Amino acid sequence: MYPIANQFILSMTIFQENISLKPYNTFSIPVSSHYFAEVFSSSALEELLKSELIKEQQLLILGGGSNLLFTKDFDGLVIKMSIPGISEEIHGDEVIVTAGAGVVWNDFVNYCVQKGFAGVENLSLIPGTVGASPIQNIGAYGVELKDVFESCSAYEIATGKRRSFNHQDCRFGYRDSIFKNELKGQYIITEVSFRLSRVASINTQYGAIQEELVKRGIAHPTIADVSAVVSHIRVSKLPDPSTIGNAGSFFKNPVIEEDAFQKIFEKFPELVHYPAGNGKVKLAAGWLIEQCGFKGKVVGQTGTWKNQALVLVNHGQASGQEVYSFSENIIDTVAARFGVRLEREVNIL
Ligand code: FAD
Ligand code: EPU
Repeated sequence: MYPIANQFILSMTIFQENISLKPYNTFSIPVSSHYFAEVFSSSALEELLKSELIKEQQLLILGGGSNLLFTKDFDGLVIKMSIPGISEEIHGDEVIVTAGAGVVWNDFVNYCVQKGFAGVENLSLIPGTVGASPIQNIGAYGVELKDVFESCSAYEIATGKRRSFNHQDCRFGYRDSIFKNELKGQYIITEVSFRLSRVASINTQYGAIQEELVKRGIAHPTIADVSAVVSHIRVSKLPDPSTIGNAGSFFKNPVIEEDAFQKIFEKFPELVHYPAGNGKVKLAAGWLIEQCGFKGKVVGQTGTWKNQALVLVNHGQASGQEVYSFSENIIDTVAARFGVRLEREVNIL
C-alpha cells in the first residue's frame, strides 16, 4: 500500500478518503464517505476482504445508488461494485447469461434484447446494477427478477469465502430476498446468472403495455417492442434521476389480509388493489398517498412526483433528513386515514 494525496493503492484497488457521495446516489444527497474503493474484479475484492483495511470498518456495498437515502455522512468504507462483463452459454432453446455485478442493469437488458434472449425486456430502464438486482428482487410490468434468476456468486464479508446461491437459497418475495433479511449486509454479490429463452414468450399482461401496443398498431410484438413500450411508459411516469433526484418508489405497495382489506374497501370502494395470492391483497400505495393530498406536493426542497405519488423527490438542495421526515409525515397521514402503515422500499442509511 502507498499513499498519493488523499488516495492510496492496495494492489488492484484505489482507495479515496473523504469523498462526496453526491454523484453516487440518485437522490443526489450531498453526504461524504470516510473511505471509498471501487472494485473492478472478483480477485480485487477477494484481496480487499483479506486486508486489514476493512477490519472493524463499517461497510457499504454500493451499486448505482438508486435505492438508497443517505441521512448522514457515511463513517466507513464504501465499496463501489464495478465488475464488468457479460457472457452466455446456449442450451437448446434456453440460454444462461451471466453478468458482472457492476454491469448497468439496463445495458444488460439491451444486450439480451439485441441478442434475442427473452425474459428481461419488461424490466427495461430500471436504474442500478446487475449485482443489486437480486437484493430486492427487482420487478416491473408483470415480471420480477425471480422469474429469470438462475444463481449468483457472492463473497461472505466475515470470512472472505466465495459462495453460490441458487433460486431457492435466495428466498425471493415481493421486493424481498434473503439478502434483505437473515443475510443482510453479510454477502457481496460479484455476478448473477439468468435463465432466458431464445424462443420469445411475450408477457404483455400489464394493462399499460397492452394499451401502448394498441396505440402503436403492434399486434405481434417482439421483445424489442416490449422493451421500447416499457421504456416509454416509465419515462412518462417516473422522474429522471439525472435531472431530479429520486430513488423510484419510496414505499412498497402494502400487502394485507383479505379481511383487513374488506374493512377498508367498504369505506373506500374506489381503492386500487390487486390479488396477491394466499388470501392476501396488494394495495396501490400511490393511490393511498394521492388520496391524502400528497401528489405533486412540494415541501421545502422535497415532495412527491407530480405523475407518481409513490416517488419522493429532491428538488435540488434537500438533505436526507428532510426527505426522511417527509416520508414519516406520509406514513402517519396514510395510517390515520386508511389504517395501513406504509413500509419504506428505499434503504435508509
Ligand atoms: P444500490 O442503490 O447501490 O444498493 C441497493 C442495496 O443493494 C443496498 O443495500 C446495497 O448495499 C445493496 N447492494 C448493491 N450492490 C450489491 C452487491 N453487488 N452485493 C451486495 N449488496 C449490494 N426497482 C424496482 O424493483 N422496480 C422498478 O421499477 C424500479 N424503478 C426505479 C425507477 C427509478 C427512477 C429509480 C431511481 C429507482 C427504481 N427502482 C426500481 C429501484 C432501483 O433501481 C433498484 O432497487 C436497483 O436494483 C438498485 O440498484 P443499485 O445498483 O442502484 O443499488
Ligand atoms: N396510483 C395513483 N396515484 C399515483 C400513483 C399510482 O392513484 O400517484 C394508482 C393508479 O391506479 C395506478 C396504480 O396506482 O394504476 C399503480 O401505479 P403504477 O402502475 O405506477 O405502479 P406502482 O404500483 O405505483 C409499481 C412498482 C414500480 C414499478 C411499477 C410498474 C412498487 C413499490 N413499485 O409501482 O417500481 O415500476 O409498479 O410495474 O412495487 C420501484 O420499485 O422503484 C418502482 C418504480
